[in-house]
Amino acid sequence: MTQEEDIKWQDLAPPERILMGPGPSNVDPRVLRALIHQPIGHLDPEFLTVMDEVRSALRRLFRTQNELTFPVSGTGSGGMESCLANLIEPGDKVLVFVIGFFGDRIAQMAKRLGADLVVYEKPWGQAVNSEEVRSQIQKHMPKIIALVHGETSTGVLQPLEGIGALAREYDSLLLVDTVATLGGVPFGADELLVDATFSATQKCLSAPPGLAPVTYGERAIAKLKARRQPPVSWYFDALLLRSYWGEDRAYHHTAPINMVFALREALRLIEEEGLENRWARHRVNSEALSAGLQALGLQFLVTEPEHRLPVLTSIIPPASVDEGKVRKRLLTEFHLEIGAGLGPYKGRLWRFGLMGHSSQKRNVLLALSALATVLRSEGFACSADDALSAAESVYQKSYQVRVEV
Ligand SMILES: Cc1ncc(COP(=O)(O)O)c(C=O)c1O
Repeated sequence: MTQEEDIKWQDLAPPERILMGPGPSNVDPRVLRALIHQPIGHLDPEFLTVMDEVRSALRRLFRTQNELTFPVSGTGSGGMESCLANLIEPGDKVLVFVIGFFGDRIAQMAKRLGADLVVYEKPWGQAVNSEEVRSQIQKHMPKIIALVHGETSTGVLQPLEGIGALAREYDSLLLVDTVATLGGVPFGADELLVDATFSATQKCLSAPPGLAPVTYGERAIAKLKARRQPPVSWYFDALLLRSYWGEDRAYHHTAPINMVFALREALRLIEEEGLENRWARHRVNSEALSAGLQALGLQFLVTEPEHRLPVLTSIIPPASVDEGKVRKRLLTEFHLEIGAGLGPYKGRLWRFGLMGHSSQKRNVLLALSALATVLRSEGFACSADDALSAAESVYQKSYQVRVEV
């Protein structure tokens, strides 16, 4: 008998976790049910209808009229790489504002694509302000400006107001990472004059990971059409993909059919809730969580409350506790996943996500009481009662907002 014949397969039984990290978030059962259908052909007329529904719902979600709006097959990094590969031509000056791990990822990709890269960096926990943006644009006159709306490595919300107008004034294209923010934090591509943006399904959209919604405005498309050479990536070439997602319906690659079904259901849920109600739900749950964490005596990485990302709150763990042990205990004793630090904050940060289906009052209250229980047993003095009543007072002030789904 060979070694392989000895293998005894068990049924796959992943545990049911409450996902309160930086993503993935929990998925609504309706989205899970959308996944279990038999696939149909990627050119089946029924599937073409689903594609059209998804494209128009994505336009409403991005708040754009952009014709070139579709989900890229890939995760958020795939969306990032596809936008960069389409927009950057070798030698283009690209200005990336780096306020954390994912801004740095954009910079690394831009460099690989042959950009003449300029990075403007801020210490982790801060955002760039409009004066810095203006002076960097004036100094470098970039063809493309890129930044991250919700930097999940730090929990910073990067204000975008005014940047699009500046980009137009200096004839630059504005590319924004909305992986963590789309569907959870106010964003409107047209209103903000964003030329291109990419997101992901597994955060505030609450579908499984695997698709990256993108949208390109007219100025971005003009750049794609004027390229001297086609993008180095065939798979991510937006104009080729337009032939499949647009009118021509020309085969490009086999779309991940069931993921498109799942995205359709996730988008339907968003429209049933109402985008503005959804933003309000994310904001109130995040404020309640923050109030509770503060009442536990914990320290925030982002000191300015107006720069805190409503879908991810980062906390510097108390020096007296073993941060990894606390996270592990939350996972094993409460089935609650929170995120660890990345890059320079590896081992030095807790990241509490409240995204999509995970952004619910019951999760906030569970996380606060579970954390207080674990912290107290690890020797850190704090009170669960104080945390819960601080959270509850936020809910009382916002009683008109629906905080459960
Ligand atoms: C802001 C941001 N950008 C990009 C990414 C990369 O997305 P993915 O992990 O889906 O490739 C992430 C993932 O956490 C993110 O939070």
